Amino acid sequence: MIKQLKFTPRGDDRGSLIALEVNKDVPFDIRRIYYIYGTKPDVSRGFHAHKDLKQVLFAASGGCDLLLDDGKTQQTIRLESPEHGVLIDGVVWREMHNFTPDCVLMVLASAEYDESDYLRDYDEFINWVTK
Ligand code: TYD
Repeated sequence: MIKQLKFTPRGDDRGSLIALEVNKDVPFDIRRIYYIYGTKPDVSRGFHAHKDLKQVLFAASGGCDLLLDDGKTQQTIRLESPEHGVLIDGVVWREMHNFTPDCVLMVLASAEYDESDYLRDYDEFINWVTK
């Protein structure tokens, strides 16, 4: 399941603030946070799916394209606002392209890093989702 999320900014004349709370804004217990930044020009990342992991992604700064493929359909979502996120819950192939130099891509994850949860081969991913 892929769901676009709109976060509520608590802005005032000083600027903006967004608070993300577990089970209110993020529908899973957050066990890990990581961020991708300083991405070099023309670099694409991702190219994997997860067997069990749930994630919420958003660009805290700058932007990138998030390509999502559930094995049947593909969509590309431009992440370029701290107010908009994407929930990925399920086995979805993801790729990130077209990073701006200032992009800080935040990822909230439902589990600690576990290489055995990754499907890094596209054919293996297709086999997994069609089995
Ligand atoms: P990698 O999976 O290649 O990143 P991408 O999302 O672009 O596919 O991760 C890069 C390196 O960081 C790799 O050696 C694994 C390591 N890593 C961790 O140690 N912990 C993490 O939570 C993540 C996401 C990656």
